[in-house]
Amino acid sequence: MPLSIQPSTLTSEIALALPSSLGLFEAWGIDYCCGGNRPLEDAAAQAGVALTDVLVELSRLQQQPQDRDWTQAGLQELVDHILDKHHRFTRQAIQSLRPAIAKVQIVHGASHAWLTELGDAAESMFDEIERHLVDEEEVLFPGGMALASGTSNADQVSAVAETLLAVESEHLLVGDTLRHLRTLADGYRPPPGACTTFRAMLAGLDDLEKDLHRHIHLENNLLHPLVRALLPA
Ligand SMILES: [Fe+2]
Ligand SMILES: [Fe+2]
Repeated sequence: MPLSIQPSTLTSEIALALPSSLGLFEAWGIDYCCGGNRPLEDAAAQAGVALTDVLVELSRLQQQPQDRDWTQAGLQELVDHILDKHHRFTRQAIQSLRPAIAKVQIVHGASHAWLTELGDAAESMFDEIERHLVDEEEVLFPGGMALASGTSNADQVSAVAETLLAVESEHLLVGDTLRHLRTLADGYRPPPGACTTFRAMLAGLDDLEKDLHRHIHLENNLLHPLVRALLPA
């Protein structure tokens, strides 16, 4: 039965039940992952979008065929998808963005002073994300799988519980940095006269933001509840 979407429905619930809503939420700047546990009416008001428009568009989307329903996936399948699609993409994006940002700073830094702050904030976020991916791949995901198969030991259980809290607070920080980067870069609109590398850098940051939102949404709203349910009370 389709979700009954009300002004009080949480954006994370809508994102889970209606995967095609993610593109709209991105376009409207409505948070559904890091700050997704809030009613639609509050999220729409904060994003400056009319609630009636949002409700009409979501209702229209509910009439259309949906993407893969990840709420029906098991833990292993979800972990494989996150690794294969999102961790792989994130590493590739960071690898190509680092030299692009450095090059754009050298060529355009004098006429766009904000590029220095953007470069510093992006670089510290990239370092943080790289550590974060390793913690998930080496502690959280294998620990979750061991819990699911009943083969976890006490050390693994406490490491999973600690890592869950740590990665969720890191997700919030990444969400804050992504907003900051978008603001610094004027919503990733290329300035007049921006060269191809400048445009590619802005598009790359935009793509990374969208993918991180989907990635964090799957972890916070689907994977982590599955793992938490396996932890001893
Ligand atoms: Fe991840
Ligand atoms: Fe994560």
